[in-house]
Amino acid sequence: MKHLIAPSILAADFGNLKSEINMVNNSEADWFHLDVMDGVFVPNISFGIPVIKSIQREAKKKLDVHLMIIEPDRYINTFKEVGANILTVHFEACNHLHRTIHAIKQEGMKAGVALNPHTPVNVLSDILEDLDLVCIMSVNPGFGGQKFIEKTYHKIKELKKLREESNSNFLIEIDGGVNTENASKLINAGADVLVAGNSVFKSNNPTETIKKLKNI
Ligand code: DX5
Ligand code: ZN
Repeated sequence: MKHLIAPSILAADFGNLKSEINMVNNSEADWFHLDVMDGVFVPNISFGIPVIKSIQREAKKKLDVHLMIIEPDRYINTFKEVGANILTVHFEACNHLHRTIHAIKQEGMKAGVALNPHTPVNVLSDILEDLDLVCIMSVNPGFGGQKFIEKTYHKIKELKKLREESNSNFLIEIDGGVNTENASKLINAGADVLVAGNSVFKSNNPTETIKKLKNI
């Protein structure tokens, strides 16, 4: 399978959201990556339900919603209603991750789990078969435009090995500090989905940057 590109709307110009969404619609990107932050699980607040609803009206590609919130179970149904196709929760924010994952799937969405940089991949060993996606955070969640953490390559390889051993078929997504320089190394290590915020939206030609990331 060719790797997927998910531009992160957090880095878009919110005053021109419609044209930013259309840029992604008309590009080689595969998904929209939407970062929801609650100011509790992470130190920042981003956007929520009404904004995602508006994005969904314009978006012609799947919505990959990354929840950086505590107690995400309370909102699973709401995110389904506003059009999330993939719903990712944080390992560090869930006391009953198995239950949460199955509640997401019950709503008909794909279920993902994100791991902070300090969380080893093997904490997921007993639920790997249940997952559609594992998001390895390559920065500490909360902000766009941070420096990529090099240890990520090692984590991707380890996770890929666990996937083989467990006969699972979740996608490996990398989120934070991804750009046209490190993308090929990430794909070679085993990444299936690259999330890219600043490197896309703050580049001179976002459509061209997406194309470069896709055709690496
Ligand atoms: C960070 C978010 C990322 C962020 C990535 O908490 O989860 O999705 O938007 O942005 P860049 O690509 O700029 O690091
Ligand atoms: Zn994200």
